[in-house]
Amino acid sequence: MADKGVRGRLLFFPLPLQGHITPMLQLADIFHSKGFSITIIHTIYNSPNPSNYPNFTFIPISDGLSEKETSELSVFALASILNVNCLVPFKDCLSGLLSAESEVHITCLISDPVLHLTREVADSFKLPRFVLRTSGICVFRASAAFPLLRQKGYLPIQASRLEDPVPELPPLRVKDLPVINVPNEEMFYQLIAGLVEEARTSSGVIFNSFEELEQSAIAAVRQEFPAPIFPVGPFHQYFPAASSSLVQTDESSISWLDKQAPKSVIYVSFGSIAAVKENEFLEIAWGLANCKHSFLWVIRPGSVHGSKWLESLPSGFLDMLGVRGHIVKWAPQLEVLAHPAVGAFWTHNGWNSTLESICAGVPMICMPCFTDQFVNARYVTHIWKVGLQLDNGLERKTIEEVIRRLMEDEEGEEIRNRVEDFKAKANFSLRRGGSSYETLESLISCISSS
Ligand code: UDX
Repeated sequence: MADKGVRGRLLFFPLPLQGHITPMLQLADIFHSKGFSITIIHTIYNSPNPSNYPNFTFIPISDGLSEKETSELSVFALASILNVNCLVPFKDCLSGLLSAESEVHITCLISDPVLHLTREVADSFKLPRFVLRTSGICVFRASAAFPLLRQKGYLPIQASRLEDPVPELPPLRVKDLPVINVPNEEMFYQLIAGLVEEARTSSGVIFNSFEELEQSAIAAVRQEFPAPIFPVGPFHQYFPAASSSLVQTDESSISWLDKQAPKSVIYVSFGSIAAVKENEFLEIAWGLANCKHSFLWVIRPGSVHGSKWLESLPSGFLDMLGVRGHIVKWAPQLEVLAHPAVGAFWTHNGWNSTLESICAGVPMICMPCFTDQFVNARYVTHIWKVGLQLDNGLERKTIEEVIRRLMEDEEGEEIRNRVEDFKAKANFSLRRGGSSYETLESLISCISSS
C-alpha cells in the first residue's frame, strides 16, 4: 500500500441520500487504501458522520434547504433544488481548496452525476471530473436511451402498453422502464438527461458493479458512450466493516438472528426511501404471518403512508407472532445478509440492496417501487435468475406462494445455487487478476494522469 496522500488528493461530492452516500464513501475508502488523500464535500442535510472516517477531511457546504423542504419534497424535487442552491457554495468551496497552499496536489473531483451543477464549476477551474453513477449499468443504459424511448413512444408509459417488450433493451418490458410517478414528468426527464450528460462529458464513469454480472450492458455502454466506463465493485466487499449509515442501526437484529436455524429467516427491507400504502402494509404483514417462516422486518418510521410506525397493525398481531417475527427501524443490513440464518431477502431492489444480496449469496423476493428498481428486479428474475418477483399486486396469498416457492421448493434451491455462483464471481473479481481489481488499477492510472 502506498503512503496516504502521495498520489494526490481526491475531492468527493455525494448526493445526500443513503443509497448514494454509502457507495461514494465506500469508493473514497478504496482510494484512501490506494494512497490518496480524501476530502468529502457535503451538504448540511444528511451529512455523513466524520467520526466513522477519521482519515478523511469533511467540508460542509450550505444547501439552503428548509426543514419543510427536506421532510416534504420528493427526492427528485430535492435533487433539482440542490442543483440550484449548491452552485455558489460549491464553487466557493472549490475555489478555496484550489487556492490554498497544500503539500498534496488536488488530482480530481469525483461527484454524483445527479448533482449536475458540478460540471460547470469543475470546468471553470479546469479540474478533471469523474462521476460515480450509483445505479447498475443496465439501468444507466436504459436512462441514456430515454430520448430514443420517447421518440419510439415507449415513454411516457401508457397503461395499454405495460406488458409490451422493449426490443431495444431486452429483457425489459414497458413497465420495467426506470421511471417514477411524479406530478411533473418533464422535470424528471430533465434530471435524467442532466445526469447522462454529466456522465457523458466526464473523464470517466465509475460503477459499483462487476464485469461478470453486467457483461452485456457494459459492452453496450462502452460501445455507445464516449466516456470510459469503470466497473470496480462490489465496493462493500473491500472493507466490510465500514459503516456509512445515516441512521442508528438496531443490533438486536443480530442477536435475534443468532437464535434462528440456518437459512430459515426472510429478511424484509425496502431501503431508505420507499414507502407503502396502509392496505399494502397489511397484506405484507399477513403474508409474512401466514407463511409460517421466521422473518426480520425493517419498518422505518414514516414508511407506511399515514402512519407514524406500527399503529396500523391489527391489535394482537405482534403477540400472535411471538418470537417468529422481529421488527426493527433500521438494521445493520450487510451483517444481516451475511448471517447464516438468512435464507431470503424480500427487497425493493435498490441497487445497493440488490448487489449486497447477490454478494452475500442470498436469493431475493423482488418488490420494485420506483425508477431503477424495476430494471434491477427484471434482471434479478430474468437474466441472473437469482430471485422471484411479486407480480400482479400485493396480496397475502400471492406473497405466501412466492415465499413458499423460494424457501421450500426445488425452484428455490436452483435459485440459491445460482446466487451462490455469483457470490463466488464477485469475490473473484476483487482478487489480483480479477476484473474489478484490474479495472481499479486502470482507473487509478487514468486519474493519476488526468
Ligand atoms: C436509493 C434508490 O431508491 C435506489 O433505487 C437506488 O438504486 C439508490 O438510491 P435506497 O432506496 O435507499 O436507495 O436503496 P438501496 O440502494 O438498496 O440502498 C439502501 C442502503 O441502506 C443499502 O446499502 C443497505 O445496506 C442500507 N440499509 C437499508 C441498512 O443499512 N439498513 C436497513 O435497515 C436498510
